[in-house]
Amino acid sequence: MNSPWDARYANQEALYGKEPNAFFAQALSQFEGGSILLPCDGEGRNGLFAARQGWDVHAFDSSQVGVDTAQRWADEAGVSMHCTVCDAFEYAPPQPCDVVGLFYAHMPSDRRMEFHQRAIDWLKPGGTLILEGFHRDQLQFQSGGPRDEAMLFTPEMLALDFCELAITQNEFLEVTLDEGPLHQGKACVTRFVGTKR
Ligand SMILES: C[S@@+](CC[C@H](N)C(=O)[O-])C[C@H]1O[C@@H](n2cnc3c(N)ncnc32)[C@H](O)[C@@H]1O
Repeated sequence: MNSPWDARYANQEALYGKEPNAFFAQALSQFEGGSILLPCDGEGRNGLFAARQGWDVHAFDSSQVGVDTAQRWADEAGVSMHCTVCDAFEYAPPQPCDVVGLFYAHMPSDRRMEFHQRAIDWLKPGGTLILEGFHRDQLQFQSGGPRDEAMLFTPEMLALDFCELAITQNEFLEVTLDEGPLHQGKACVTRFVGTKR
């Protein structure tokens, strides 16, 4: 599979850093552990963190170069992580998971709802979705994310996409990102947590 992300990841390692997303690390600490799926996990910074915490981690990305890095980082850390090269619209998990984490997984607008529905389907009943992505107001900043407004999020949009979940957090925030060279500086993000009934 050829991905436009291959060239980016081949050009420089740790594009989003090697540390987990701050919201992910904080949200995950509320759970005891179990199985977690990280779609579009890139070079695996979040999967690596979860594996180090003892989670049974499945992660995928369409970039072979990103997945190779993720697997190498896991091997170097001596932890187990199931990393697969796959497109989000073709992925079928071995079994539904306790947690699905979507981090900066921005799809073309005409496929966003389909992708988010798939993320719901990948959860067990009682499982939790954790998401962080750029808000539409991010276009005023140069700290990362797609330049196409239609690919960005609002809490209202996420409330509709994930209406079958019991939503416990769905907010817009201004934060300062410090995640590798591609996520640096003031940013507008949305953070979402919801549990499948
Ligand atoms: C902005 S990066 C974020 C990577 C990672 N989630 C993180 O926060 O470090 C977006 C990632 O989504 C992946 N991606 C985009 N569209 C995809 C698709 N249709 N299927 C699988 N991965 C995809 C890209 O290859 C890229 O690694």
